[in-house]
Amino acid sequence: MSILNFRKTDFIPEEFSRQKIVIAVDGPAASGKGTLAQKMAKRLGYAHLDSGALYRAVAMTALEIGADPSSFQEVQPALNIVLRNLTPELLSCPDLRTPEVSDAASKVSAIPEVRAALLQHQRDFAANLPAYVGGVVIDGRDIGTVVCPNADIKFFVTASVEERARRRFLELQSEHKEATFEQVLADLSARDLRDTTRKVAPLVAATDAYILDTTKLNPAETLDETIAVIRSKFLSESGDVAKPVQKAV
Ligand code: C5P
Repeated sequence: MSILNFRKTDFIPEEFSRQKIVIAVDGPAASGKGTLAQKMAKRLGYAHLDSGALYRAVAMTALEIGADPSSFQEVQPALNIVLRNLTPELLSCPDLRTPEVSDAASKVSAIPEVRAALLQHQRDFAANLPAYVGGVVIDGRDIGTVVCPNADIKFFVTASVEERARRRFLELQSEHKEATFEQVLADLSARDLRDTTRKVAPLVAATDAYILDTTKLNPAETLDETIAVIRSKFLSESGDVAKPVQKAV
């Protein structure tokens, strides 16, 4: 979670740059949505909230206290600890990214009480941006459908499960973590199934989301595509013809 230095971009028309813009980026695990959201926020000078890190923090804490991540009774103390300690340090802790925490995060995220508590935190974050920040990019599974259904722009980032497993496998290898491709593919498939079939806020593209299949795109190409969509949306809604907007000094 970060508030980045605000600078007006050179393509958002003046009338839009006066209101806080909310951009939702949803998609399955390892689709590239997190990297995309981070780069998009940096490019636009917006704040960024990685909502998955909230679920991961609850999962990691639950594992630390020996709780069953599928049981609300057992997870509740972990949830309370996390809600009292939602610091940037906790949310950027590398231990949140282990396969065990990933698996537990998809279990705690299926608990309605956990979702309700974290929903409020995400909405508060979007509603209380510092005056100097022009907007926020939030990435997750249900941002465009549940957390911010009125987001100004919604993206649903996806890629084939094999490609996502390949990316995650290479990432683990570069970190010298042991895993086989088959294991990673099985883990991702299990998380996909849990995320898409849970009763509360299942992973699904919002009907008004731009669907972005990144199977054959690299991160830079993915970012360029989304920036082109944002640019054309704001320019067409302002009734403006690519009028350059002054850059902030
Ligand atoms: O995005 P990331 O993979 O870090 O999210 C970890 C887990 O948290 C996901 O597998 C998903 O189950 C859950 N999650 C969620 N809703 C969100 C973000 C993440 O259910 N908005």
